[in-house]
Amino acid sequence: MNVCIVGTGYVGLVTAACLAETGNHVFCVDINDGIIQRLKTGDVHIFEPGLEELVQRNLAEERLVFTTSLKDAMASATLIFSCVGTPSMEDGSCDLSAVYRVAGQVGDNMEDHKIVVNKSTVPVGTAARVREIISERLAARGVSLDFDVVSNPEFLKEGDAVSDFMKPDRIIIGTDNPEVAQLMENLYEPYARSRDKLILMSPKSAEMTKYAANCMLAAKISFINEIANICEKVGADVRDVRAGIGSDHRIGYHFIYPGVGYGGSCFPKDVRALIHTAADLGYVPEVLSAVDNVNNRQRQMVARKVQSFFESAGGVSGRVLAVWGLSFKANTDDIRHSPAIDIVNELSRAGMQIRAFDPGAGQNAKQMFAGNDNVSVGDKQYEILDGAHALAVLTDWHQFRTPDFPGIEKRLKQPVIFDARNLYSTDLIVRHNFTCIRTGRPDII
Ligand code: UGA
Repeated sequence: MNVCIVGTGYVGLVTAACLAETGNHVFCVDINDGIIQRLKTGDVHIFEPGLEELVQRNLAEERLVFTTSLKDAMASATLIFSCVGTPSMEDGSCDLSAVYRVAGQVGDNMEDHKIVVNKSTVPVGTAARVREIISERLAARGVSLDFDVVSNPEFLKEGDAVSDFMKPDRIIIGTDNPEVAQLMENLYEPYARSRDKLILMSPKSAEMTKYAANCMLAAKISFINEIANICEKVGADVRDVRAGIGSDHRIGYHFIYPGVGYGGSCFPKDVRALIHTAADLGYVPEVLSAVDNVNNRQRQMVARKVQSFFESAGGVSGRVLAVWGLSFKANTDDIRHSPAIDIVNELSRAGMQIRAFDPGAGQNAKQMFAGNDNVSVGDKQYEILDGAHALAVLTDWHQFRTPDFPGIEKRLKQPVIFDARNLYSTDLIVRHNFTCIRTGRPDII
C-alpha cells in the first residue's frame, strides 16, 4: 500500500519505518528541511533503539522516501497519517494548530479519495473537526471529493517504540466506515498476528481510549507514589507492599513502581488535557486532578528529602550533589517534563551545586542548563562524583542498577545515596556501608 506520513517526530518516524518494513511504500513529509535532509542520508535525529537501522534498510530498498512537499508525498497515497505534535497550552488544553494545519493542507492538495488517519493524541471530537476543515478547503477549491477520517491512536513507549509497533498489545481503529475498517485491518495484519488485537470503534471512542489508557497508567503511578509516601510515615516498605498487592492478578506487578513521579511528553500533558476537556463540559474530574497533584508533589518531595538531609547536617547552601539520570525515564534522551530536571532546578535554587550525568540525555541537558552556574552536566558517570557530598539517582537507567559501590565511596566525600527510584537492595547498601535515603522504604542510616 502507498502511505503518506506527516511528521517525522518519534511517532511519525517509527510508524513510517515500521510500515515500510512490511513492504508498504511510505512517503514521509516534514516542514523541517534540515531534518528531512538528514533523514535522506539515513541519519536519524531522534534517539530510539532499532530505529536508525530500520530507516537505513528501508531507504536503501526504496520503500521509504523523505520530502518536504506534502503535495508530492500524498499524491499516490491511499492513507495519510497525521503524526504531528499536540503540545500543552498554558491552561492544560491541547494545542491543535499543527493537526488543523495538516488537515487544511490535505484539503488543498487532495485530488482523489484519501483516508486521513490521525495518530496524534487529540481531544475527543478532533476527527470530526478535521473532517470539517478538509471539506471547507475542498469547497473553497470548488472540488467535490469523498474522503474518510480515521482515529488510530498510537501506544508507543519511548525507548521501546519499534517493538511496541511491531508487537502491539492492541490496535485501535476508530471509523464508522466498514470498508475503511477492512483496509486498516489489512494494513495492520502483519503486526496484529491475531484478530483480537484489532479493536474497532467509533472515532470518538478511539480518541477517548488513548486518553483513558494514559490516564489509567498515570493513576497507577500516582497511586503507588501516594502509598509509598504513607509507607514512609508508618514505617512500612513499599517494595514488599508492591509485591503483596501485585500478586492479585486484578492489580498486577506492572507499572506500580514508586519514584519521582511520571514525566515525558505524554502522561503530564494527557492527564491535564482530559481534565480540561471534562471541565469544559461541566464535569469536575476528581481522580484525574488528584493524579496530577500527587505527581507534581512527588518531585518536590524528593527535592525536599535531599534538603532536609543536609539541613540536619549543617546546611544546604554550597553542598555539592552528584546526580545520575536526567531523562524522564531510562533509554531515552528526552528530558521533557522530566522530574529529574525539576528536582535539579529546585536544589540549585536552594543553593546546591549540582553535577549531573545521563547516558542519553547529556547533550539536551547541557543546553537546558546553559547559563545556570549551579548546574554542570558531565560526560563521565564516575568523574562527576569526585568531591561531591552525596549522590542522587533519579532515572532508572540499567547502568545505574549495579554500580561500583567501592568506586562511588572513594570519590564521594561521604557515602550517601538518595535512591529515589529504589534501585538498590537493602543488602547491597548495608554490605557497602552506605547511608541511603529511599522512596517508601525505611532509610538506611
Ligand atoms: C507513555 C505510554 O506508556 C505509552 O503507552 C503511550 O503510547 C505514550 O505514553 C504516548 O502517549 O505517546 P512514555 O511516555 O514513553 O509512554 O513513557 P512510559 O514508559 O509510559 O513512562 C512514563 C513515566 O512514568 C516515566 O517518567 C516513568 O519513569 C514513569 N513510571 C513508569 C514510574 O514512575 N513508575 C512506573 O511503574 C512506570
